[in-house]
Amino acid sequence: PSARIVIDRDFHIGQVPRRIFGSFVEHMGRCVYTGIYEPGHPEADSRGFRQDVLSLVKEMGPTVVRYPGGNFVSGYRWEDGVGPTQDRPRRLDGAWHTIETNTFGLHEFVDWAKAADVEVMEAINLGTRGVEAARALVEYANHPSGTYWSDLRRANGAEAPFDIKLWCLGNELDGPWQIGHKTADEYGRLAQESAKAMKLVDPSIELVAVGSSNRGMPTFGTWEHTVLSHTYEEVDYVSMHAYYQEHDGDAASFLAEAVDMDAFIDGVVATIDAVKAAGKHTKQVNISFDEWNVWYQRGLDSEDQPHQVAKEWKTHPRLIEDSYSVTDAVVVGTLLHSLLRHGDRVKIANQAQLVNVIAPILAEEGGPAWRQTSFWPFARISELARGNIMQLVVESPKVSTAKFGDVDAVDAAATRDEDTGKLALFIANRGLEDATEIALDLRGIAATSVARAELLTVPEGGDRHTANTLQAQQAVGLVPLDSVQIDDGVVTLRLPALSWAVVELE
Ligand code: AHR
Repeated sequence: PSARIVIDRDFHIGQVPRRIFGSFVEHMGRCVYTGIYEPGHPEADSRGFRQDVLSLVKEMGPTVVRYPGGNFVSGYRWEDGVGPTQDRPRRLDGAWHTIETNTFGLHEFVDWAKAADVEVMEAINLGTRGVEAARALVEYANHPSGTYWSDLRRANGAEAPFDIKLWCLGNELDGPWQIGHKTADEYGRLAQESAKAMKLVDPSIELVAVGSSNRGMPTFGTWEHTVLSHTYEEVDYVSMHAYYQEHDGDAASFLAEAVDMDAFIDGVVATIDAVKAAGKHTKQVNISFDEWNVWYQRGLDSEDQPHQVAKEWKTHPRLIEDSYSVTDAVVVGTLLHSLLRHGDRVKIANQAQLVNVIAPILAEEGGPAWRQTSFWPFARISELARGNIMQLVVESPKVSTAKFGDVDAVDAAATRDEDTGKLALFIANRGLEDATEIALDLRGIAATSVARAELLTVPEGGDRHTANTLQAQQAVGLVPLDSVQIDDGVVTLRLPALSWAVVELE
């Protein structure tokens, strides 16, 4: 089979919003404790930050990291995580049935974010708390000095304000599992008043209102409409969350889940714009897709459901430490393509989560850290997606799926940097059987050489389930894509079945 992709220099949808390469650190399982932070680990620095994990994070290249939850934040008192460590309280975290020691908190996260060179995206608790705690936290974090909360920050060792620009107004409050679950009207009013009070402390902040926890929620659509009807003037973004998994061995439908993501985004864009039109607003609210990934959620009785987890109370239990296969990595690549294709409206996105908990990086307590298969598409797209997001025309062979009907086997996204002239093409073959020959029809773009061409696919001796494990940490990685040819301005390449690739041309 063969496919054709047209890329015209003049057809693009705007600049790559670099914040779409975000990630997420929640106080959940072993993401913080024994993930990014493990005092006493041979690789930890004097602050307890694991340097082996940190260097993998830097290599992967997230631009912004959401913190501290997630479901966790809906029962969290941020004050518990500041001040002398020995005075911090141990608390029960109901969301994950875990003992929270609070030895890691806001100051530690801000320091870690500096070390990782990422922007902080801070979530506030609108489950059990509200306006007062929200505005106090903004004053603590962002006000220079001379007031109760800002001086407390200084007394706790941070003279300069943290200057956190991005704030989430709670987490998944449409979900019955959420501590402090609310109706859309209850949440909309609380978010509106919290936003107002927070912006009175620091008008420069950007705010994210909570959207639906997933597209299948019974309130999806009406939730966004009602929440935005209350908050449109106060907020800058509405959130989206989506997790995908393979059901009953139906790999074809799973590999096509970017179709679902595309449609989900289009639906939220339509809802935002309907509220904008009816309210005669001129400002533009956009999307923060602040949780997305592959997540193998087990049955409702399982221990890792959001509302029912570890049976005993302990600190940092192993929770949802999914191991990702070649198939999962191809899906992650296509989900990133979808986010990139919608970069005119999706301005922030966070892969959930960063370490150990449904994460591209795994780290053993006292042991090594390594890259999952899904690390690779994220790392390359974050590194190479620069400049304009190109509008592609893709003519592809089809694969038939039970969930979406016939879909394109070839899924792609591309960017072009006007300054360097570099074109980056990210491309997947979702077909499980056939290799595909691809011809690029470049218009107004002169490509004379291949700067990079790499492929992720089933390794020698492996199958589509092969993963990177403690025992085989590098079973799946990127290998050279040798098939790229440039002949008289025409670029051709060959993608094996079930593969993801990056091609950078200059
Ligand atoms: O990322 C894991 C969990 O998924 C988050 O805590 C929650 O927001 C979502 O349900």
